Amino acid sequence: MKVLTGCLTTSPARRREKVCVVELILLAKSGCSVILLTPDDVYMTVGCKRAIDLAVDILAKPKANVLLPRPGFPWDIVRSIYKNLEVRYYDFIPEKNFEIDFESVKKVTDKNTFAIFIINPHNPNGNTYSEAHLKQLAELAKELSIMVVSDEVFRWTVFGNNPFVPMGKFSSIVPVVTLGSLSKGWTVPGWRTGWVALHDLDGVFKNTKIVQAANDFMQINAKPPTIIQAAMSDILEGTPNYFFVERGNYLKHKVEIGYSKVKHIPGLTCYMKPEACTFLWTKLDISCFADIEDDQDFCRKLAVEENLVVLPGIAFSQKNWLRHSIDMDTQTLEEAFERLKSFCERYFTESGAPRKNVNGVN
Ligand SMILES: Cc1ncc(COP(=O)(O)O)c(C=O)c1O
Repeated sequence: MKVLTGCLTTSPARRREKVCVVELILLAKSGCSVILLTPDDVYMTVGCKRAIDLAVDILAKPKANVLLPRPGFPWDIVRSIYKNLEVRYYDFIPEKNFEIDFESVKKVTDKNTFAIFIINPHNPNGNTYSEAHLKQLAELAKELSIMVVSDEVFRWTVFGNNPFVPMGKFSSIVPVVTLGSLSKGWTVPGWRTGWVALHDLDGVFKNTKIVQAANDFMQINAKPPTIIQAAMSDILEGTPNYFFVERGNYLKHKVEIGYSKVKHIPGLTCYMKPEACTFLWTKLDISCFADIEDDQDFCRKLAVEENLVVLPGIAFSQKNWLRHSIDMDTQTLEEAFERLKSFCERYFTESGAPRKNVNGVN
């Protein structure tokens, strides 16, 4: 058996097998009939961030462009820019539970587009895509001749009614790259252990030397900590289901608190009660506030005056939105929303645009 240096007790191939098994279980559970994933198709990475790096690096071609979500996780943008790729954004439909706006995808795709990146469950929108929506996406990607990269780092934080469906289920329609990590589901971002799975039913990745590029990437990049790699099988297979159920119930409870509090805060609109992840995502009606320029100005003043940190939407490529963390004890969460409310009431101006009524909120 080939063993890496140090304290490893299992071979790299065997550890990849464990991640592969989890991917297979998820695919089988979601009713996928044709599954051809093998351990050779799985690459262990230093967290999901490095999985994003790997995906961008191996798929990118010179002068190509990539479709990223707006809003979306900033690392996708950073890596794409670093690789000299043109970044193009597609949008969502807030009124339709943040479904992907397929028209916006079509509008920005051309012959130099190589892939669309999705995040499911979505940070920061907080939704989980339905099976029908993912299938439509796969068909659209096929029509546009682009691959799908699916960041599924939040797939163990789902607490809504919409079950998580892995994008790999549709790899018979379009080549799919799945990105995963222990970070969110086990709340261990510091363990830096993630993975990439290449779902390549038609051998496209092999034939276009993408597999070769992935192997090259692994040769020149650091791997996840060996001690965590050795524990992968226990972590993935040995974590009892009640752990995720309890975590889901905890997050759901916090979302309920945050969502009901936001209803009484002027100038903020929460279009959808999140069904996954650890945040609320709200639209900031800047015209309702006196002396506040935009989301960054709002967050800066909020931090100074209320000692409360909320992330401005621009950090996720969407100006005048806010991302509120809800993953904390109830007392702190309630206090945070009280501070936010008094801040908004202080700056709220009647002369601004009237408060909107969206989905019964505000
Ligand atoms: C959508 C998304 N992908 C990837 C990551 C990075 O995950 P990791 O900590 O495993 O690198 C994050 C972290 O916040 C994230 O929100």
